[in-house]
Amino acid sequence: MSVIVECLSKQYSKGISALDNISFRVKAGECLGIVGESGSGKSTLARVLLGLEPYNEGNLTFNGKPIAPKKRALLRQYRKSVQMIFQDSTSTLNPKLPIWKSILEPLDNFKEVTPSFLTAEGLSRKEMAEELLALVGLDKQMVDRYPGELSGGQKQRVSIARALSIEPSLLVCDEPTASLDVTVQVQILRLLKDLQKKTNMTIIFISHDIRAVTFLCEKVIVLRNGSIVDQFQLAELYHKDRHSYTKALIRAASIE
Ligand SMILES: Nc1ncnc2c1ncn2[C@@H]1O[C@H](COP(=O)(O)OP(=O)(O)OP(=O)(O)O)[C@@H](O)[C@H]1O
Ligand SMILES: [Mg+2]
Repeated sequence: MSVIVECLSKQYSKGISALDNISFRVKAGECLGIVGESGSGKSTLARVLLGLEPYNEGNLTFNGKPIAPKKRALLRQYRKSVQMIFQDSTSTLNPKLPIWKSILEPLDNFKEVTPSFLTAEGLSRKEMAEELLALVGLDKQMVDRYPGELSGGQKQRVSIARALSIEPSLLVCDEPTASLDVTVQVQILRLLKDLQKKTNMTIIFISHDIRAVTFLCEKVIVLRNGSIVDQFQLAELYHKDRHSYTKALIRAASIE
């Protein structure tokens, strides 16, 4: 698995760059953090990476293949390998569907995928969903509940189970913990860390919170006004040569 982003730019309207000349690489099993304040272009980058939004210049390459929006067949192949978790799980989970149906939606879309955790033969569909719930630390009995009957943290775990159902090689998380209270945030971050170790998937974790990013990721990119202003390994977080903006983010996080 490799993602190569080269000189990627995106303008929603002429003259205003939501993303400006973005370049980075991610390899299998890596966890890349992208941090930046509101409006810095994080969600735009996430949507571009998923092929949900076109870009104006540059290249996006996944496993050596160029990913260009609007090429439907190619994008379908791509979506088999790449999943996304959003800040607001209520937008991911259909309130009218019981949890087990929501969890299996990606697998229903890609019937050709047989994930390795479903090796037991003859599992019913509900049992498959139960396996996935267990993977994210939820009680199997929750399969029959509806999203409205779950807490925010539980719903986010369900979204993670759903994203993992097709064993993506890349998981893009856009502020997955922003709407949760602090203790639940930590639980979800721990869960992502555990799952990453277990599956060796690659994670691109996007957040305005430098603490969450540095908890999970060994490589960090700092985004400001659509540009990368700093890029470093976790061990270099407190290095004196960090960009002044990164230092400001660290300072703000430590006095909050
Ligand atoms: N659909 C759109 N049409 C026009 N401009 C947009 C659109 N979506 C985002 N933008 C603009 O692009 C810039 C980046 O927005 P984006 O949502 O990517 O930021 P963000 O870093 O995710 O912010 P937040 O932390 O608040 O979620 C902003 O200036 C925003 O106003
Ligand atoms: Mg956003």
